[in-house]
Amino acid sequence: MVTEHKLLMGPPLLKAEEYDFKGLQKALKLRPEGIIDEIKKSGLKGRGGAGFPTGVKWELALAETGEKKYIICNADEGEPGTFKDRYLLEERPLKVLEGILIAARAIGANEGFIYIRGEYTEPIKIFKKTIEEAEKQGVLGDNIFGSDFNFKLTLVRGGGAYVCGDETSLINSIEGKRGISRIKPPYPIQAGLFDRPTVVNNVESLAAAAEIINQGADYYTGLGTKNSRGTKLICLSGDIEKPGVYEVEFGSTTLRDILYELGGGPLKDDSFKFIIPGGLSTAALTIEELDCQYSYEGIEAAGSSLGSGAIIAIGQKHQLLEILQRVGRFYMDETCGTCFPCREGNRHIDYIFKKHHNGKFYQEDVDILADIGKAISGAARCGLGQTSLSLARSLFYKFPEELIIGGGQR
Ligand SMILES: Cc1cc2nc3c(=O)[nH]c(=O)nc-3n(C[C@H](O)[C@H](O)[C@H](O)COP(=O)(O)O)c2cc1C
Ligand code: SF4
Repeated sequence: MVTEHKLLMGPPLLKAEEYDFKGLQKALKLRPEGIIDEIKKSGLKGRGGAGFPTGVKWELALAETGEKKYIICNADEGEPGTFKDRYLLEERPLKVLEGILIAARAIGANEGFIYIRGEYTEPIKIFKKTIEEAEKQGVLGDNIFGSDFNFKLTLVRGGGAYVCGDETSLINSIEGKRGISRIKPPYPIQAGLFDRPTVVNNVESLAAAAEIINQGADYYTGLGTKNSRGTKLICLSGDIEKPGVYEVEFGSTTLRDILYELGGGPLKDDSFKFIIPGGLSTAALTIEELDCQYSYEGIEAAGSSLGSGAIIAIGQKHQLLEILQRVGRFYMDETCGTCFPCREGNRHIDYIFKKHHNGKFYQEDVDILADIGKAISGAARCGLGQTSLSLARSLFYKFPEELIIGGGQR
């Protein structure tokens, strides 16, 4: 039985004059180290996809010297199937703003940016108003809540490419450069925006951080499992009865219950063929694999990853070939082209997917795909290249009878 949790979701939080900013007020009474201790104790992992511990990131940024540091809220949300950040930006922007301010206070930043996906016209409008109202209320600006903390927040409209969600591409984009990934190191924490120490955090991570400071790390660690603390916003989409954003406590349920109970199961006269559990860059899970616990470790044990929380259900009416071709086209279009194997490799993958034989492929093609995948991920500067073949690879592995003719003759 799945129960929805209400930690990040809830009634709209849109009017600055009606919101108490309790988490921020608490944070302003703590030293930066105190805020960071609380976030570290909570076990919060970044919700942008990579799952890096938020408290550790803030601690490393605080340790950096230099007069100027930046905090950036990553609201690019370009991962297909992901729309949870949109919910937070539209319905609870003050919680996101509070998280940005707490992070800034913790790392010693007086300036920050929120980078919102270019197509998100409504969230951009809402967040612009949130900033204006917060400035009027004195929640942004100088001496916030009578403290010595000053903070300026600027909204930047995203450049319209998937790769701009990658933190270093995003930093380039804010600087007015082309949105392509940077070579790391240096990491943004060392030399990010305008070469200054910069923390980039996802919208949901920041909203969760605000709630952790507000309710205390002990409350948060009481939710979830040892490796997956707290709750997660999930986005259900695809061939499912009740698509939408839901919040679940980690470890409290299985992927199957999420799909059948929260999501209402497959569409009428259809059944699920497979599930993509964490966005387009994660491996597919078959219907037999859905009894895994919904947690970082549970999905990993099943052979995939939780990614950004985008659960896409694919019904029987779809041909595997159609899915492969769409995914191949997506990565070919979205590679930024900086790393040669990613640019040419994704083009070649798209070519192979188009060159099928009645929806099937020779084993030789599958072997070539595997070689290309190795070359791309070995040379990739960013996660796009490292994962562009994850879904396709899992489909060949899990549905060989549907996709592979066998033999080597072409
Ligand atoms: C191609 C690509 C796209 C990404 N898109 C997003 C995105 O839309 N939103 C996001 O928060 N992180 C995205 N990321 C991850 C960010 O680089 C970064 O890890 C994240 O914003 C850090 O925040 P967190 O620690 O709070 O998760 C993307 C990464 C890659 C490689
Ligand atoms: S891996 Fe691909 S998307 Fe990432 S920087 Fe290299 S070329 Fe660009």
